[in-house]
Amino acid sequence: MEIIIQSTPQAATEIAARLMAKLIGKKPGAVIGLATGSTPELLYRSLINLHLDWSRVTTFNLDEYIGIPREHPQSYHSFMQQQLFRHVNIRPESVHIPDGMAADIPAACQSYESQISAAGGIDLQLLGIGTDGHIGFNELTSSLASRTRIKTLTPQTRRDNARFFGNEDQVPQHVITMGIGTILEARHCLLLAFGAKKARAIAGAVEGPVTAMNPASALQLHPHVTLCLDEAAAAELRMTEYYRWVYDQKPDWQKA
Ligand code: GLP
Repeated sequence: MEIIIQSTPQAATEIAARLMAKLIGKKPGAVIGLATGSTPELLYRSLINLHLDWSRVTTFNLDEYIGIPREHPQSYHSFMQQQLFRHVNIRPESVHIPDGMAADIPAACQSYESQISAAGGIDLQLLGIGTDGHIGFNELTSSLASRTRIKTLTPQTRRDNARFFGNEDQVPQHVITMGIGTILEARHCLLLAFGAKKARAIAGAVEGPVTAMNPASALQLHPHVTLCLDEAAAAELRMTEYYRWVYDQKPDWQKA
């Protein structure tokens, strides 16, 4: 894992944005996995300001709530439209987000997996992290080999996401999420985490054992993972000096 620690979320986001811009520059038809939540909002703003050419890019979002229509202000469809898609020249048919209103959810999940394969797999998967270490909506005890499927949210995640819905009761109980196995097949995973609330989850993901009790720890099994953290999110890591030193040693052309 490459651990990049910056003093602010803005600085960490700039690195992530450059990394994504580099990919789109090198591979205009890149397949990019996208994430929701407050963490990537800054990144989407930076990407918009970079005026990249999204006309050949294909995207796959990690997850979506079940049972709320895509026009609902808190659906991840709406989030992505607001935060990114309506500001860039991506073709609507190149955007993929799980369909939380599908009549046959298991079939929709299987078809999502097929669409990812048909697109040639994901070049870069963007990830946030839950306060308990979940990635996508792969809650604690999710199988590390899981594929896109239905999940039931934990009370913790529903509490964490209540701020978007007004109150916890409004947060849907079920979601569709790419599985951990699906995420691990992306060629590069880029995880962003900011703030003290994420510090414990990050420490477990990077330096703890690989365990379904911290789903992000499965990223230790992946050969190409980059973490862009602010200092608060990195605060519980034990080897920060080493991570900083390794990053400082990198020649500029290899840095994002
Ligand atoms: C939700 C999303 C995750 C996201 C997490 C953290 O659970 N499904 O993809 O990483 O929230 O969100 P935030 O960035 O708002 O802390």
